[in-house]
Amino acid sequence: MGGSVEKILYTVEHEIGTTDGALALYDVLPIEVRRQIEMQVPEFRDILKRSGEHHDFTKRDWPEDLLCRKRNPSDEDWELWIWPHPIESAESYFEMYKDPIGKRMIRHHHERFDGFTGKPYGGYPGELKGESIPLGARIMKIADAFHAMVSNRPYRDRKFNILEALDQIREKAGTEYDPTLAPLFCTISLSVLEKIAGNGACSDSKDAS
Ligand SMILES: [Fe+2]
Ligand SMILES: [Fe+2]
Repeated sequence: MGGSVEKILYTVEHEIGTTDGALALYDVLPIEVRRQIEMQVPEFRDILKRSGEHHDFTKRDWPEDLLCRKRNPSDEDWELWIWPHPIESAESYFEMYKDPIGKRMIRHHHERFDGFTGKPYGGYPGELKGESIPLGARIMKIADAFHAMVSNRPYRDRKFNILEALDQIREKAGTEYDPTLAPLFCTISLSVLEKIAGNGACSDSKDAS
């Protein structure tokens, strides 16, 4: 993997996978729930789509070996790149679309439902927990994690298969993930999940599954 075109492709592939997962999760919410959401925010689904497509925008600037996880992140990587990316991506989204709802979805897409912020798997920016985290961010977090787990990642010997990734999501319902949304994600049809999984875009990644 070389220049910035590949970094863009890698990030876009992940953003699309996350967006498709987020929309699929939204679509399996009970119709009554969706109606209530859309009574408050009529364009909720469109905002979820647009913010999903932008949620990791500033990852395009990351060093390529960090972006493709060819090495473990250093303390400096966390400070400089990883922790700031939801805040900076949210700012860049707002500059582009002037939409405060999508901005909050992006800013909080790495918060944990239980509010845990310690290393190494803590949520960030660590400002919210539970249902105070915007619904779109709670949806995006699950879709994001699913896509990251089933995509090719060169630092792992083997990516998770879809059923293993769903087990992880089920297991972490109530800690990392919203306890209502996580089991619902697991009801999305296998054919939709297979499409979402797609292929990782790191050109030198190895698919050992
Ligand atoms: Fe992210
Ligand atoms: Fe992401």
